[in-house]
Amino acid sequence: MKIIEAKNYEEMSRIASEKVQACIIENIQLNLGLATGSTPIGLYKHLISSNKKGDVSFRNVTTFNLDEYVKLSQTDPNSYRYFMNEELFNHVDIDKNNTHVPNGEATDLDQECLDYENKIREAGGIDLQILGIGANGHIGFNEPGTSFQSRTQIVKLDEQTREANSRFFDSMDDVPTHAITTGIGTIMDSKEIILLISGSAKKEAYERLINGEVSEEFPASVLQNHSNCIVIVDKESIS
Ligand code: PGA
Repeated sequence: MKIIEAKNYEEMSRIASEKVQACIIENIQLNLGLATGSTPIGLYKHLISSNKKGDVSFRNVTTFNLDEYVKLSQTDPNSYRYFMNEELFNHVDIDKNNTHVPNGEATDLDQECLDYENKIREAGGIDLQILGIGANGHIGFNEPGTSFQSRTQIVKLDEQTREANSRFFDSMDDVPTHAITTGIGTIMDSKEIILLISGSAKKEAYERLINGEVSEEFPASVLQNHSNCIVIVDKESIS
């Protein structure tokens, strides 16, 4: 893992955006893996602004998101499809047909998981994967204890994760209990990974990531075994 220490959230987002843009310029048909949550919003803002200036085009880019809540409609403002449309896709020149988010409303969820995994494989795999990290070390919605070999599957969310995400919902009861997530094996197959870590709430997770052992009890630790992973961390998560 290569670690880049950014002064603040803004610098973390700018560095990540420059890296994503460089990858798209090198390969205009990039398969880009995307994440939701508060952390990548600054990155998406930079990408939108660069796209508007004409510095980068998403016309031939294909995206695959990491995860989606089960049973939330795509038009629900808390769904990750809605989030991605609002935070990125609606504001850049991407073809929405080339943007993929698992369908949490599928009638056959197990089939949806297989189909999603196949779609990534048929596209040639993820070239560059953006990741955030949960305070418990989750990547995607792969909670502690998930096998490092896991592929796209339905998971039960940790109570800690539901609580962290309840800030977006009216009440705790409204927070979904399950999600579809690409697996740790799926994530590790990405040719390149950028993990973004921001804020004091992620301090312990960062410490454990860089100094802890590689263990399924702390899913992000698997990234220590990836040959091309950059961690961009802001100061609040370090000090
Ligand atoms: P956050 O979520 O960016 O909102 O902190 C990250 C995650 O849970 O993976």
